[in-house]
Amino acid sequence: KKLIVINGPNLNLLGKREPEIYGDKTFEDYLGTLQSKHNDVKIDYYQSNIEGEIIDKLQEVGFNYDGIILNAAAYTHTSVGIGDAVKAIEAPVVEVHISNTFSREEFRHQSYISPNAKGVILGFGLRSYDLAIQSLIE
Ligand code: DQA
Repeated sequence: KKLIVINGPNLNLLGKREPEIYGDKTFEDYLGTLQSKHNDVKIDYYQSNIEGEIIDKLQEVGFNYDGIILNAAAYTHTSVGIGDAVKAIEAPVVEVHISNTFSREEFRHQSYISPNAKGVILGFGLRSYDLAIQSLIE
């Protein structure tokens, strides 16, 4: 199986950014852990701070990957375009968040991804990605 993790804006700063919320590990470090845990699947990784680049990537992988793990970060709460892209593609998308967005500010309670996602996993820290991968391979 071929999966891809797509991370949105500011997630390139994981490890440095608000560690009390997002932890002190970089995503690249965690990706190594994930890949060795799930050594029977290929896990690609893409990060962009740019909305249109995330849409381009979803279109590119959306017809030839077995699943997409998407943390659209702040664009989750604003982007009709990313929501539409998730709807347009064939590969199942699992929406992921590191933090429990429902225990945070009201503006984080809205998601343009959820209605078109296969499922949503949030609030388990970086483990949310692991749980999303498990949901796609089982
Ligand atoms: C986030 C939650 C979003 O509200 C926030 O804008 C992020 C990260 C998370 O993984 O917890 O950048 O998607």
